[in-house]
Amino acid sequence: MMLSFPRQYNKALRIVSICSIVPISVLLFLVSPLSSLTSLHGPSPNAPTAWLIATISPAHSQRRRNIIRATWQSLYEDPAITTRFVISDPGELWAPLIRHENATYGDIIVLSHLNETAHIANTIKSMELFRYLVESGFHWQFVSKLDDDSFLDVSTFYRSFILPILDTRSHDLIIIGRRLTYRKPHFDYPGGQFYTLTWEMTTRLVHLYTLEPIADEHEDVLVGRLLDEAGVSWELVELDNPTAFDYDEKNTDVLANRHAVLAGAINPHKMKDDETYLKVAAMYDSHGLRPES
Ligand SMILES: *[C@@H]1O[C@H](CO)[C@@H](O)[C@H](O)[C@H]1NC(C)=O
Ligand SMILES: *[C@@H]1O[C@H](CO)[C@@H](O)[C@H](O)[C@H]1NC(C)=O
Repeated sequence: MMLSFPRQYNKALRIVSICSIVPISVLLFLVSPLSSLTSLHGPSPNAPTAWLIATISPAHSQRRRNIIRATWQSLYEDPAITTRFVISDPGELWAPLIRHENATYGDIIVLSHLNETAHIANTIKSMELFRYLVESGFHWQFVSKLDDDSFLDVSTFYRSFILPILDTRSHDLIIIGRRLTYRKPHFDYPGGQFYTLTWEMTTRLVHLYTLEPIADEHEDVLVGRLLDEAGVSWELVELDNPTAFDYDEKNTDVLANRHAVLAGAINPHKMKDDETYLKVAAMYDSHGLRPES
């Protein structure tokens, strides 16, 4: 299976597999000549803090995190973009492995006040992340929340969705995401596979959540519900079905909710098993979707 991969994935995977035995300085030396680096927009005055992409991940999913590091996270290089994995308290058994993993990659945020359960992940984990970011004094222009069964074409998303509002509208209450609608009461919310908040929106949500710490709502519905209950007007910049969708290899209808990776695909979702995730990832390179895909 390895043999059919494009070369850079092979290399990236090999780098991941030797990470645990090679000091970080050697590793950096190895990575730099191999990666195909894409500068998305040249140096920016806001360089270090423009965009955080946070992937929600359970502590024990190390293999999936390594796959993510070796695939879409290795396809761009821009100091204005930061990627992090967000895990809850890993518990005694996993804590040493998480320490070891973070010593290698330095890309893990631990929300130690949360238990690592599916219920927590599906309800408050994302909002608790936003709260952690705001309370820790971070300031990103954009914060994205991504599921670990979602792939992201970072360069194309940046060019198509972030850049158009970066300087003009980044202070507005905007969410970029799939439009989902709650029926009773009627409000929109962004699909949890991948949504992006302006910093203004991040701080607003944290404020509303602090006033009303709802603990039993689906994490993506919670975003829409907090805004709806507070009567806040906000804008959803929509990721349509060709752009963000559930992956289904057999369906070629690009307008369906579930379909294959076709032209315009930026965020295929629901790749539950690792082979499927790798197969989807192999359709992309540093320029985005490969023309032959
Ligand atoms: C992970 O490593 C980074 C970089 O060294 C550090 O800033 C961060 O605090 C670490 N995370 C945890 C949970 O220890
Ligand atoms: C986390 O789990 C532990 C042990 O199961 C329990 O005692 C504790 O109350 C839980 N904490 C939260 C915040 O749910």
